[in-house]
Amino acid sequence: MTDPRLDGKKLILGVTGSIAAYKAAELVRLLVRAGAEVQPMMTADATRFIAPLTLGTLAKRQVLIQVFPENQDGSWTKHVDLGLWADGLVIAPATANTLAKLANGFCDSMLTATVLSARCAVLVCPAMDHDMWTHPATKANVDRLRSFGYTILDPERGELASGLIGVGRLPEPETIAAFIGEWLESRTQVNRSLEGKKVLVTAGPTREAIDPVRFLSNGSTGTMGFALADAAARRGADVVLLAGPVDLPTPAGVDREDVVSADDLHRAALNHADADLVIAAAAVADYAPATAGEQKMKKADEDLVLQLRRTPDVLAALGERKQNGQVLVGFALETRNGEANARGKLERKNLDWIVLNHANEAGAGFGTGTNRVVLLGADGSRHELPMMDKAAVAARLLDLITAQETAKE
Ligand SMILES: Cc1cc2nc3c(=O)[nH]c(=O)nc-3n(C[C@H](O)[C@H](O)[C@H](O)COP(=O)(O)O)c2cc1C
Repeated sequence: MTDPRLDGKKLILGVTGSIAAYKAAELVRLLVRAGAEVQPMMTADATRFIAPLTLGTLAKRQVLIQVFPENQDGSWTKHVDLGLWADGLVIAPATANTLAKLANGFCDSMLTATVLSARCAVLVCPAMDHDMWTHPATKANVDRLRSFGYTILDPERGELASGLIGVGRLPEPETIAAFIGEWLESRTQVNRSLEGKKVLVTAGPTREAIDPVRFLSNGSTGTMGFALADAAARRGADVVLLAGPVDLPTPAGVDREDVVSADDLHRAALNHADADLVIAAAAVADYAPATAGEQKMKKADEDLVLQLRRTPDVLAALGERKQNGQVLVGFALETRNGEANARGKLERKNLDWIVLNHANEAGAGFGTGTNRVVLLGADGSRHELPMMDKAAVAARLLDLITAQETAKE
């Protein structure tokens, strides 16, 4: 099935000498099936892991390897032309060696020479052993590549070819293909689908004071909410971001208000209840200490029982006040009976959409750069997204929600 974000797009796919090179075959197949033209390039060491014939047959193009191919007629393939031809250049998998070469401007193969001369967007998907990935040299090289404007799709945590468990795994081809669609769209098209709309996003945890130095909270880092605020602003919306205590930079063009407790968030959210689209991604505490001591509590010999009170239900309050045409999106982080619980919350709180993520799944939920979510609609619809970078998840969620809401108008 073609994907409008990839259909007709010209991609160079660089493959390097990692054990994960076998995944490149499936990636080529998925990209070609989505409608992309794929020009494979391999480093010489990549050909020890997977045959050029495999990638060439799937891409229906000759695989390019050498800067100096020995053509009988004296012709040569111009890496500069290819760099101009492509809409995007993806390296998957990218070895530590190739990262080091690119960070230092080496161009001793067709792939590295093309990257250096490419004017198109570059996406690098590293794959390696955990210790290679966490080595300061690799970290410095990756930072350098980011500073060139290249996008890095971070490797995932899981079982590695070495037998160790750690970070370094190349994401599955489906995840990379979905990410490439998002990435290309954000790089090549101006999507202004939320122009003139006010969007309210809540993000991060809340802190409920026990005394002046202690609090109850949770492990939310705010990454998903910040990615949603960023994606909405890129689509032209006037975005208000209510942020709990998090350590994240404010996305460009976003109006940020910092809050601490569930009470603060409740008050601030009601001030912006006129938004056209409300996305409640904050992990709001359900309970707070009944009274917060004015002075630091002193340790005693006995056990301590904390009396807790219910905090205001921010999402339910917004649901009660929902105006005609307003779209309300909630998040559910569940550890069991995910879909049933999320659907219950959707109905109880008068939401239009709920995003379900699983707290006990590796690479999803709190504190990770990636997420795997299911979007459930009040109209009974269900959209399952693959594990993706949170920025890509945010973009996909906004696409799905805006497309369906526009269709209803
Ligand atoms: C079995 C095997 C698996 C390897 N897997 C990886 C890998 O996943 N990531 C990596 O950075 N290097 C890996 N290497 C090391 C690279 O192949 C080596 O550094 C090579 O020079 C990379 O060249 P290239 O970047 O030009 O493709 C592996 C080597 C072997 C023998």
